[in-house]
Amino acid sequence: MRKLKIYNLARKLLFLLPPEQSQNISHFFLKLFSGLYKSKQTRFSVKGLKIKNRLGLAAGLDKNARLINEFDNIGFGFIEVGTITPKPQYGNPKPRIKRLISHESLLNSLGFPNEGVATIKPRLQKVRDDICLGVNIGPNKDTVPQEIVNDYLFCYREVFKYADFVTMNISSPNTPNLRSLHNIENFKSVIDAILNERSKHQIQPKIFIKISPDEESKTYKDLIETINDSAIDGVVISNTSDNQNLKESLKVGHLPGGISGKSLKNSANKILKEIKTIINQEKIIVAVGGIFDVDSYNEKFELGADLVQMYTGLIYEGPNLVKRIVKNDNQISSNS
Ligand SMILES: Cc1cc2nc3c(=O)[nH]c(=O)nc-3n(C[C@H](O)[C@H](O)[C@H](O)COP(=O)(O)O)c2cc1C
Repeated sequence: MRKLKIYNLARKLLFLLPPEQSQNISHFFLKLFSGLYKSKQTRFSVKGLKIKNRLGLAAGLDKNARLINEFDNIGFGFIEVGTITPKPQYGNPKPRIKRLISHESLLNSLGFPNEGVATIKPRLQKVRDDICLGVNIGPNKDTVPQEIVNDYLFCYREVFKYADFVTMNISSPNTPNLRSLHNIENFKSVIDAILNERSKHQIQPKIFIKISPDEESKTYKDLIETINDSAIDGVVISNTSDNQNLKESLKVGHLPGGISGKSLKNSANKILKEIKTIINQEKIIVAVGGIFDVDSYNEKFELGADLVQMYTGLIYEGPNLVKRIVKNDNQISSNS
């Protein structure tokens, strides 16, 4: 209770600052204090992926892989870093994150700011073996469409040795043309290239595809059928939404970027339910979008998820939310 009050006060103060500035300050405090949260967790396997618990950190919060130990300390069962691109890039001009406080949501148009794979790679090499690490990769903003496949390949080759899973991000709304990779011809050429690359090496991380919540049913059907016929291991559902109706209902229809948090939950859950009915059983479904409490977490499993991730809930609720969810999940599994 006391911790919650302190967090609420800290959050009020942090929310007085622009979002990216307050995120930097939170990361500084995370470095200082995350050790206080540390508890021992034993690993177990979900469809071949060894995790500490079923709640993971979603991509985008630790873009440069600087805080892996800290996010492990606060209790996440697996951690996804990135999106990492071949070359470093600044991303879109600021301001590029907007808080929609009354909706407990965020609008972001960051555009993959990151230090580039060469700078980030040494941090991945140092990650402890007990941590389940996912690396999310994507193309640089100025890459021409016919070269995008080479950006994925370049990143994959640099990171595959250190990752338990590699997520191919084809769904950020903030990188021009990226979502056109949901079209089957484009998609197939990219996954064939990555799967072919994976098959050449002994170390073979799982490969996930991160999907947009804004596509037509037919697009999902074609995409999942292609995934079913391939050695892709799973999907991450979903990225942020740039659905115009949703953005207008939140009074941000005139702004660029994608919606995350509570306002994303319904569309992410709808796609999760739809995909669950068509995806092969052995594929891993990682569900993300609108996790703010134990109920929204459990709902993802009821809809068919194998694992769950969170981003915006952590910004609004703080690290105690991770503890609460994981504790409840451990109780459920020890009772069953
Ligand atoms: C500020 C911000 C930055 C993000 N950056 C990335 C990113 O770099 N790569 C990615 O795959 N997803 C990114 N995401 C999407 C999240 O990983 C997640 O899919 C989405 O926010 C839905 O989860 P949530 O409602 O728990 O936030 C970002 C989200 C936010 C809010």
